[in-house]
Amino acid sequence: MDGQAMRHDWLLDVLKPLGIGGPLRQLGGEHDLNFRAVTAEDDVIVKAMRQRGEPALVERQCAALAHASAADPGLPLPQVLAFPDGLPWQAVRDDEGQSRIVWVQRSLDGIAMGEAGPQQPAVLAELGALAARLDRALEGFALQTATEAAKWDLLRAGWIRDRLDVLDGERRQLVAAILADYDRIFPRLAALPAQALHNDLNDYNILVVPGLTVPARISGLIDFGDMTVGPRICGLAIAAAYAILDHETPEAALAALIAGYHAVAPLVPEEVDLIWPLLRMRLAVSVVNSAIEAVDRPDDPYVTISQAPAWRLLENKAIDGALIGARLRAACGLPVTDNAERILAWLDANRGDFAPVLGVDLDDAEVVSLAVEDSILPENPFDLRADEARRLTGAVDDRIRLGRYGEPRLVYTDRAFRKGPWKASNRRTVHMAVDIFAPAGQAVHAPLAGKVAMVEYRANPLDYGGVVIMEYRTGAGEVFYALYGHLDPAVCDSLKVGDEVAAGAVFAKLGAPQGNGGWEPHLHFQLALTLDGMGHDWPGVADPDDWVLWRALCPNPAALLNLPEERVACTPVDTAELLAERIARFGSNLKLSYRRPVTFLRGWRHHLFDEMGRPYLDAYNNVPHVGHAHPRIRAVACDQLARMNSNTRYLHPAQTALAERLTARLPQELEICFFVNSGSEANELALRLARAASGGYDIVTPDHGYHGNTTGAIDISAYKFNKPGMHGRRPWVHLVDVADDYRGRFRRDDPDRARRYAGQVDAALAEIEQGGGRLAGFIAETFPSVGGQIIPPQGYLAEVYRRIRAAGGICIADEVQTGLGRLGDFYFGFEQQKVRPDIVVLGKPLGNGHPVGAVITTRAIAERFAEGPEYFSTFGGSNLSCRIAAEVLDIVDDEDLQGNARRMGERLLSGMRELGGRHEVVGDVRGIGLFTGLDLVTDRESRNPATDVADYVTNRLRDLRILVGREGPADNILKIRPPLTIGADDVDMLLDRLDLCLKEAGTALRATKP
Ligand SMILES: Cc1ncc(COP(=O)(O)O)c(C=O)c1O
Repeated sequence: MDGQAMRHDWLLDVLKPLGIGGPLRQLGGEHDLNFRAVTAEDDVIVKAMRQRGEPALVERQCAALAHASAADPGLPLPQVLAFPDGLPWQAVRDDEGQSRIVWVQRSLDGIAMGEAGPQQPAVLAELGALAARLDRALEGFALQTATEAAKWDLLRAGWIRDRLDVLDGERRQLVAAILADYDRIFPRLAALPAQALHNDLNDYNILVVPGLTVPARISGLIDFGDMTVGPRICGLAIAAAYAILDHETPEAALAALIAGYHAVAPLVPEEVDLIWPLLRMRLAVSVVNSAIEAVDRPDDPYVTISQAPAWRLLENKAIDGALIGARLRAACGLPVTDNAERILAWLDANRGDFAPVLGVDLDDAEVVSLAVEDSILPENPFDLRADEARRLTGAVDDRIRLGRYGEPRLVYTDRAFRKGPWKASNRRTVHMAVDIFAPAGQAVHAPLAGKVAMVEYRANPLDYGGVVIMEYRTGAGEVFYALYGHLDPAVCDSLKVGDEVAAGAVFAKLGAPQGNGGWEPHLHFQLALTLDGMGHDWPGVADPDDWVLWRALCPNPAALLNLPEERVACTPVDTAELLAERIARFGSNLKLSYRRPVTFLRGWRHHLFDEMGRPYLDAYNNVPHVGHAHPRIRAVACDQLARMNSNTRYLHPAQTALAERLTARLPQELEICFFVNSGSEANELALRLARAASGGYDIVTPDHGYHGNTTGAIDISAYKFNKPGMHGRRPWVHLVDVADDYRGRFRRDDPDRARRYAGQVDAALAEIEQGGGRLAGFIAETFPSVGGQIIPPQGYLAEVYRRIRAAGGICIADEVQTGLGRLGDFYFGFEQQKVRPDIVVLGKPLGNGHPVGAVITTRAIAERFAEGPEYFSTFGGSNLSCRIAAEVLDIVDDEDLQGNARRMGERLLSGMRELGGRHEVVGDVRGIGLFTGLDLVTDRESRNPATDVADYVTNRLRDLRILVGREGPADNILKIRPPLTIGADDVDMLLDRLDLCLKEAGTALRATKP
């Protein structure tokens, strides 16, 4: 740095009057030099223009900045410092004796968006709004276009036509097509009003302050060096082009940006339609320009590398360019086509006068719901079975029934409905038609006169079967379309494209499952306002995240069925409403996960589905041990509920059967079972057993432990009793350190750490003795979970148990988190520690969601306990609970879920270790099987907990459709603990998304570090 400061000594004299005397840190820039420096008050950017540069260029920028800042003082623009003579710039001779124009700006917060990476929609909406404000602020600014800018002026971008020779093959064709599009829109573009434009809001001219616990924000719009005069839509298209580079959801990102602009400076539909062709043209100019440079500088790899993102966007086949105009119009709340409002008004005015589509009045038809919230079809939301498709409504008679428009459904399970590589990727769920269920063979009539636009037989299972698209006209001759799906394929013989069909005429029949795609017979009746961008291959269901577009393109067709909209419109569960009701009815310390709470209505194995049918990978919940909605659990529960349910006062084989299954898994001495209905109740009972057996009362337990929410369980849970508003430690509770060998007192570099941690028990025992107490026993989560997914060092529990037993105490293993195969190599956690507890406590996973817990102990302890009063728990040991719990144990064995936990755990942990190698924020990766933790740190040296990073990652993963939790005294440890059914592709998804989140969080952490 000093060396560079020396080289630029020629700057120091001119900067001194501004209070800049210290070192100049050089920033990027080749011909123009840029430095970061400080004055007494500010960080500043010193800019020294290229040698012999024109002062006019700087003057122009300073004038534009002054103009825009005066018009809108809130804009985050650089502020130019004035020199003592009042001028914003000075001419200086550099060390080569050449003249350079020097000027100084206050530096703004944040980092370049290009460095921060693709931004989320809310940030892009803010960027859109700021771009709109900047355009407004520059409206009255008189600017002469500088000649250098011509290359980047979208009004003069046609120059690339003569340089397509620098591209080869497909790329040349691609750019030629973009150019042809540009030529097509050019007359419309040239006719728009022009104004002064920044013209280069690329991702390095936009500053952003990334956020971990607060949303990221745009903090600067900089570099006015490429200003030009043109239609504002050109400037917006340029900003948009760079903002969506390498974005995972470029269409949504673009829509957010444009809607943000429109909200501040309303766009007209004609402008909106120009954005996509202009955006592509800007990138085309950029790639052609680079290709030309590459010819001049064949050895400079940077030229090619820098263009890769632009090519990736231009060549991205997943983007549906034909629909972007409609998408952006819909995002802005503008009519999706020019005649949309007139067509809808005409349909509404004629509601009631159309010929009945099935020849009968639909007024009294029953409406059936296939919505996520109502229907339990399909059993497996990833695989609709043929028999399920044939009985969607479960109807037992031939009456006509209606299925709703806008209804999120889980029945669309084919891979074609999925939008990404993983099972939890977005999928299309929202029905865009009205269904009319009626017997196969029922005649389909034309509601009005029209012409056949398409007739086909789509033979694939769960496709449309026979399908017709009709073209209709309003009274004023405006064209719209309707699709009739699931018809008898015979329609292909009787109709052809161009045939006229009179109003009321029968033109098709409802297909039977053999010919209609395999569905219960029904008509899928869908409306579309245009074929532009849709052609004849209409999607029948939409991604809920794209609903704004699709509900505009394919509105509710109720009018054509002579029905009021509401009768066939679905209003899905409203998460905001649910939240408000919850707040009204429940205590505020009943916490919800995530900043954006999530509603789940269905589950299957290790996935959950929200109210819109969006799938989420559940990498957090350990209660659905053998997977959500396991059919075997449902079957035994239904079966037992159909029989009887009672308690342990009567004999029942299910109770003894469960006891036998559990004890068969445990060391021989653990032979007596008690059944309860929660982990808390189980721990309460364990305390009573220990006290009865030992005659003592005092308990030794590790810090930060959690054993439940009842009074006694809280008393032994430091994680709770040490929180503000709690009573603190009871005198009969004695804490030892949690045996955390990453961050704790004794670490992995200490070979004696297990013994040292265990040795703390001696102090606790001494404390009991000094206080006149008597030891009842020791309780610990075998692997402390809320303490931070800790795996105690090998030998720890053996040392602890030896000391406790020597003092007459009972050793209790809380295996609520660790038991039943989760650890892969071990069925119970204590096996890993090579100990035999006196009492084992089980809960959560035992009932797979049904409330059941168990306490298993030795005969001697149980006998001491039996000397007291009768033991009875109303729900503990219910026949229903026992059958479910036994089924869980069987499923773990039958499906080799313990083996899966081992295999998937290894995959997950090795992937996490690999992430740890690449992301500085990862301090420690730990776990066994599917009990894992990722300890996040601000830096690896101090191991200080990166709580904000963990908060960011869990919330961001939720948005990316993955559930994980966080734990530890500082809430900085990601807790990944999925149902045991998780598969390799799910683990890979988790690792991939975690990689993204850690990258984003690392960038934000670096940007916000002082
Ligand atoms: C280790 C441990 N023990 C006991 C409990 C309490 O179980 P429950 O919530 O079923 O009462 C929990 C709950 O999280 C736990 O993690």
